[in-house]
Parts: sequence; C-alpha cells; structure tokens
Amino acid sequence: MTNINRQWIVAQPSESEGMCLEAEVFGVREEPIPEPKEGQILIRNKIFACEPLVHAWVKGVPGRIAPLPVGATFKGHAGGEVVASRHPDFSEGDVVHGNLEWADFTLSAGTDVNGVPLSRQVPGFSLATSMITLGMTGLCAYIGLFEIGKPEPGDTVVVSAAAGGIGSIAIQLAGLCGCKVIGIAGGSVKCQRLVGELGADAAIDYKTADMVAELAAAAPRGVNVMFDNVGGSVLDAVLVNLAPFGRVSICGGLGGYDHPEVAVRNTIMLAQRNGTIQGFWYSDYEHRFAEALQRMGDWLQSGQLKEWTHVAQGFDKVPEASRGIFSGANTGKQLVEIA
Ligand SMILES: NC(=O)c1ccc[n+]([C@@H]2O[C@H](COP(=O)([O-])OP(=O)(O)OC[C@H]3O[C@@H](n4cnc5c(N)ncnc54)[C@H](OP(=O)(O)O)[C@@H]3O)[C@@H](O)[C@H]2O)c1
Repeated sequence: MTNINRQWIVAQPSESEGMCLEAEVFGVREEPIPEPKEGQILIRNKIFACEPLVHAWVKGVPGRIAPLPVGATFKGHAGGEVVASRHPDFSEGDVVHGNLEWADFTLSAGTDVNGVPLSRQVPGFSLATSMITLGMTGLCAYIGLFEIGKPEPGDTVVVSAAAGGIGSIAIQLAGLCGCKVIGIAGGSVKCQRLVGELGADAAIDYKTADMVAELAAAAPRGVNVMFDNVGGSVLDAVLVNLAPFGRVSICGGLGGYDHPEVAVRNTIMLAQRNGTIQGFWYSDYEHRFAEALQRMGDWLQSGQLKEWTHVAQGFDKVPEASRGIFSGANTGKQLVEIA
C-alpha cells in the first residue's frame, strides 16, 4: 500500500447552464494518508454512491448542504472500512457509511461531514445494500411513498425516474402494498425491465410517448399517488391524469436539474381534483426509519424486494459515473467501487 491519499476535488468552477458538471470540474489531489488523532477513526473508502444533488452543491444551488467551492473535496454518500481507530466506539474492521469526503481515506470523529452519526453495515447484508436499500436510497423511497403518498391497496401509483436508485425501490414498495404500479423511464429496455423484473404493471418511455394519452390508457381511473423524481412535463402529464384527491410526493426534480427552463404548468389540476402536492426530505422522518428498515430488510431477505445497482470500477471512474446520471446511463443506483 502506498502512502498516497487521492481525493476528488472541485478543480474549477462549472460553466454549464445545467446541473451536470463538465468533466474538467473533477480534479484529483494527492496528499499523504492522514493519521487519526484522539477521538478519530481513519476510514478506507470502498464505495461512492453517485447522487445528482452533489452537482447542485458545486453549482452553489441553495439547499440542505453547504456549497462546495473550488478546491474543496467532493462530498457524497460513501462507505468503507475503519483501518485505524482512536475512537472508543469504533474498532479496526468496522464497516461504516455516511456523507463523507470522496477520497481513498478519510478521517471521521464518528460522524459524517454533516455531523450525522456514521451508519454501520447492517448484519447479514453487504455494504452496498446497507448504503442503498437499507440506507438513504431505500429510506427516500419508503418515506416518500408511505408517509407522503399514503397509498391504499388498489390505488394506482406512478413513479418517475423509475429505473433509477430511488425509483426502482419505490416501484416495488408500491407493488408489495397491493397497488397498481406504473413506472416512467427513458428507453424501451428500462421499461421492459421495470415490468419484467420489478413487477410494474405498466411502464412508459417518457422520451417517445404521448405521456398524457399513455397515462390515461394505463390509469383509466386516474393516478392516486405520484412519486416524483423528475418534475416538468412528466409531472404535468400526471397532473392531467390525477384521480380525485390524488397525492403527489416530490422526491426530486431531475428533469429541471440539467434543463433550467423546465417548468410545471398544470398545477390548476390540483384544484380541480382536490389534489395535494408535498415534498419531503427523508432525514426529517427519522421516527419511521426503524420500521422502514425492518420491513425492507425482510422483503430483501424473502426475495420480494430486488436491488438494482450500476457499478463502475475504479477511483478514476467518478466523473464519468457522476455525469452519466444525467443522460440515463445508469439503471439502478450508480455506484463507484474504489477498493
Ligand atoms: N427528497 C429526498 O430526501 C432526496 C434525497 C436524495 C435524493 N433525492 C433526489 O431523488 C431523485 C432520485 O435520486 P436517485 O439517486 O434515485 O437518482 P438516480 O438513480 O441517479 O436516477 C437518475 C435517473 O434519472 C433519470 N433522469 C435523468 N435526467 C432526467 C431528465 N431530465 N428527465 C427525466 N429523467 C431523468 C435517468 O433515467 P432515464 O433513463 O429514465 O431518463 C437517470 O438514470 C433525485 O432528484 C435526487 O436528487 C431526494
């Protein structure tokens, strides 16, 4: 093992109009591997989980995380093994994850970069599953669907970006609860996989479909719950097809991240259908985490819940993998395995 610690840093400002960062914005800085001080652990990262919002932090879009200026180390969901510990609660060999610096090695005082306690690998599951289905990705799907969407058995649930990390879990959770499920994704291959592998009742390719007409055909009694990761014209088409008292749960806005001109125009349908629209930030619903993790863990173990990941191999794949999210290169959660 060399003594070099590679870190992904913001090398230059982004000039792009949209959210997808140019490849040149990603740079590598090399420093010696740091030594943990009293109360610290040294983590050797193994997995980075790519997330569209990381780009927003670099672009300085207001949000929950402090912006990442030029020279800062990229921060995002990461997991790895404790290789040295001077912290009473952690031992060498512990496997942990949280929002961490994207580097080979990172120091922690037992918390992530936001001060949130590190999570540990869930016994019986891999680090990747602990980070994804039993981590932020699954919790987003669970909270957004059950706490905000509140589906009843027999309801029709639509999920956008359904072949992405959160969407691919939300699709299955809705099906497991007795709902009719319609996934929206880009391309026929992703749509076929949503139906064939994840049990969606129908899937619509937003890149080619007449969205309003195809949704009307697939949901003749209207859409009771929309789990939305996209916004824009996709959400507009669902609003036209909203069932009376339909609920829209806003998880993300991928359609607008890289196309700033995208707008939602049909909000009047919320008035006409007595509909509600509500966003959520998953970490504000900690009171439901234990229940969510128990149920999703049981479904994973019984094989009723599948985890889709799209894995790039190697530290140097970070820019390509991070940028690919915006062109739909990933199916399932985009990960980069670095060790
Ligand atoms: N509310 C919360 O607490 C919370 C927490 C974390 C993340 N989020 C948000 O949740 C959303 C989903 O995150 P994720 O990690 O599941 O994403 P992801 O797996 O990275 O999903 C990316 C997928 O979105 C689709 N997409 C990209 N650009 C699009 C566009 N312009 N229009 C329509 N679809 C587009 C692409 O699939 P196609 O091939 O189908 O186009 C792409 O593969 C994001 O908006 C993220 O920021 C919310």
